[in-house]
Amino acid sequence: MSLTRIHNMSISLDGFATGEPQSADAPFGHAGERLHEWMFATRFWGAGGTEGVDDAFAARHNIGCGAEIMGANKFGPPGWQDDSDWKGWWGPNPPFHTPTFVLTHHPRPPIEMAGGTTFHFLQASPAEALATAAEAAGGLDVRIGGGATVVRDFVAAGLVDHMHLVQVPIVLGRGVRVWDGLEALEDSYDIEAVSSPSGVTHLTFTRRVGDGA
Ligand SMILES: NC(=O)c1ccc[n+]([C@@H]2O[C@H](COP(=O)([O-])OP(=O)(O)OC[C@H]3O[C@@H](n4cnc5c(N)ncnc54)[C@H](OP(=O)(O)O)[C@@H]3O)[C@@H](O)[C@H]2O)c1
Repeated sequence: MSLTRIHNMSISLDGFATGEPQSADAPFGHAGERLHEWMFATRFWGAGGTEGVDDAFAARHNIGCGAEIMGANKFGPPGWQDDSDWKGWWGPNPPFHTPTFVLTHHPRPPIEMAGGTTFHFLQASPAEALATAAEAAGGLDVRIGGGATVVRDFVAAGLVDHMHLVQVPIVLGRGVRVWDGLEALEDSYDIEAVSSPSGVTHLTFTRRVGDGA
C-alpha cells in the first residue's frame, strides 16, 4: 500500500519550520540556514559529509517515493506567481526526480525539468491532491515536502502515515509553526526520539494501526 510520508522537516525548539519574512534573498527569513545545518553536514547532502545518525535519517528522504506535494511558499518566494519564468529554487535538474505537485491558488501549466521532475500546479483539497499524487506515484509512496502550512494541513486531515521531524536547538520566536491546531497529535501516532551527537533530535511519528485511513 502506498504511504504518505514526511522527511527531514526541520523545526526550531518552539516549533517553527521557517522564520520570517520569506524573500528571494532569505527563503527561511530570519532563520537563515540554521534549520538545516545538520543536513548540510551529511553525506546525503554532499560528498565527504558525515555518515552517522543524521545521514541515516536524511537519506530516507529519497527512498521509495514516487511523487512529492509541496506548498506554494516552498516552491518560490512571495510573488513568484507573477513571474512566468519562475521554475523553483533548484535549477534545471531539481532533486525530486518525480512528478511534483505544487499546491497554489494560482495554477499554471506543468513545467517539465531535467532528471524526471515535472512540476504540476494544483488547486485542490489535501485529500484530492493526495489522490492525484498517489496515482502519479505509480504504487510508490507520496512525500509531503512542506512547508509548515502544507504539513500541518495534511496531518490535520489525517492523511500522513509517517513523519520525520528534526528538532534543532534554536529558538526562533516567530515564523510559521507546524504544531498549531494539532492538539493531542500523540493520541494518533507512536512517537520516538533519537538524539544525535550533532545536537539535533530526530522525531518519528508513525500512525497507530487502526487510526485514520
Ligand atoms: N524546515 C523545513 O524543513 C522546511 C521544509 C520545506 C520548506 N520549508 C520552508 O517553509 C516555508 C514555506 O512554508 P509556508 O508554511 O510558508 O508555506 P507552504 O506550506 O510552502 O505553502 C502554503 C501556501 O501554499 C498554497 N496552498 C496550500 N494549500 C493549498 C491548497 N489546498 N490549494 C491551493 N493552494 C494551497 C497557498 O498559497 P497561495 O494562496 O499563494 O497559492 C498557501 O499560502 C519556506 O520558507 C520554505 O523554505 C521548510
